[in-house]
Amino acid sequence: MSRTVYVNGAFVPEEEASVSIFDRGFLFADAIYEVTAVIDSKICEWEGHVARLERSLGEIGMGMPMSSEELLEIHRELVKRNDMEEGAIYLQITRGAIDRDFVMPKDLEQTVVLFTQAKKLTGEKKGLRVVSMPDIRWARRDIKTVQLLAASMVKTEAKKQGKDDAWMVEDGFVTEGSSNNTYIVTAEGKIITRNLSNSILPGITRKSVLRIAEEMKMEIEERPYTIEEAQKATEAFMTAATSFVTPVLEIDGVELGDGTPGPVSKRLCEVYIEEARKASC
Ligand code: PDD
Repeated sequence: MSRTVYVNGAFVPEEEASVSIFDRGFLFADAIYEVTAVIDSKICEWEGHVARLERSLGEIGMGMPMSSEELLEIHRELVKRNDMEEGAIYLQITRGAIDRDFVMPKDLEQTVVLFTQAKKLTGEKKGLRVVSMPDIRWARRDIKTVQLLAASMVKTEAKKQGKDDAWMVEDGFVTEGSSNNTYIVTAEGKIITRNLSNSILPGITRKSVLRIAEEMKMEIEERPYTIEEAQKATEAFMTAATSFVTPVLEIDGVELGDGTPGPVSKRLCEVYIEEARKASC
């Protein structure tokens, strides 16, 4: 069944949606995106996503094309028109369309595109097997731009190797997964995750999960760690908007703990979903 999508002010069937071939999102990846989860037909973590959207746009010299309330209304309208109970909403804002030029034009009309991806998000998590790969992305990974070629390449390579995802490594330390933040848990129960910087995306799920862990009196250390240290962990997991907290069972062929999802990630996932449901709007 065809979805209803949003493009530049109009809700249209997906077959009728189009943007210009001169769009700078298409030609230069001159665009910012967000992916927001939907549970019980409601939008999760809206405040976090819209705050990061505004920051990302600002970092590349763009403003918001409309107010947060108007954007939220479009999200809600898409959920309604597509009768979606659970899944993701993808939002992309580009600088707009103009003849190709490396210099960023000023005051273009931005392109705004949103679409839904219905899928079950809240089922049992079976856990992932990951492989490490060099992080070949650019130096401003804190900005959520649509230039996802490197992430797409490492994920595809991981799948080719029969695994689920890649953990990217730079200067000997894990940065993040192809589209998620990563964590390890020590034998003492301490959660270690890479500190925020230009090297990783400040995950909205990461922020909530760390807050929940803190409230549960778990010890947290935000610092870089190596693949070798991760392989010695009793548990590992990743977080992202549409996968919440997902256990990682194997890193570069080394099984963690007893090779099944660990108690820390399981508990964090349960509480995260519970809270996300309550706070959704
Ligand atoms: N990806 N790191 C990277 C590189 C990501 O692409 C993402 C999200 C995250 C987690 O951020 P959040 O918790 O805010 O979803 C970390 C989205 C889900 C995607 O590209 O589909």
